[in-house]
Amino acid sequence: MKNFFSNIIKKDYFYVIIKKIFKRFEKNTSYEAKIWAKLNTNFSTEEFCSSIDSNLFDEILPEVKLFEDEAKEKLSKLKVKLGGGGNYTLLYFLVRKFMPNIIVETGVAAGWSSLAILRALKKNKNGKLYSSDFPYFRLENPEQYIGILAKNESNKMNWFLDIRGDDVAINEIKKKIGNNPINIIHYDSDKSYSGREQFLKNLYSNINSKTVIIFDDIQDNLHFKNLVNKNKENFCIIEFNNKYIGLLGINIPNRK
Ligand SMILES: C[S@@+](CC[C@H](N)C(=O)[O-])C[C@H]1O[C@@H](n2cnc3c(N)ncnc32)[C@H](O)[C@@H]1O
Repeated sequence: MKNFFSNIIKKDYFYVIIKKIFKRFEKNTSYEAKIWAKLNTNFSTEEFCSSIDSNLFDEILPEVKLFEDEAKEKLSKLKVKLGGGGNYTLLYFLVRKFMPNIIVETGVAAGWSSLAILRALKKNKNGKLYSSDFPYFRLENPEQYIGILAKNESNKMNWFLDIRGDDVAINEIKKKIGNNPINIIHYDSDKSYSGREQFLKNLYSNINSKTVIIFDDIQDNLHFKNLVNKNKENFCIIEFNNKYIGLLGINIPNRK
């Protein structure tokens, strides 16, 4: 509670925290969303990656294991417990496979996803990551932990990180990328229906049919289901740690 109050009075955080509190009253559709996601799940991570490029998937596994061990070691030395990461194996694979120029991710936290993306960009020798986050306000001085796993991965030129929350940060990212298309998006921040909708609206002109979009935790509400139904989009769902990841923008071989 003490950390919550000391963070809420920080000028830059006040509106984001109040908005987050209000979003808790949005209609809860998680029950229907989970049933739908489960029914429409096509793959595990391994099946998905192997069906796209099994040689590459075999090649990346030791590389993933290496940064996973390094990250676990780093986290074990911290006094606080940070939330778990996104599907970093999937992210590393996709970045290696599609060699993107521009990647946007929302939700950094300790930085598992950022680490995977930046490590893959290093291997590709190309591409830039733009990240948006907001500090965990249950922690004391939470800013110090944001992206802690990824800090040594970037050459300063290939990572832009804005921690003022998606509303501000995504506009800032938009200014930086101009009208260039985004090649890969990983959405893992504000899980509300309205947050996901607003994000897509803000980056509408940078997204095209080739943009690979990865939405984490689609079981939280019906946003992903409504999105694919409305746009008649080809989509794919991967189960990961009892949660569901929705993907758009990839031609999926051998769908169930
Ligand atoms: C699940 S964690 C991200 C995990 C990260 N992708 C990884 O793989 O390690 C979600 C993050 O999103 C942040 N977040 C929540 N609401 C946000 C918002 N409105 N804008 C930006 N970030 C937000 C949280 O503070 C947290 O750092």
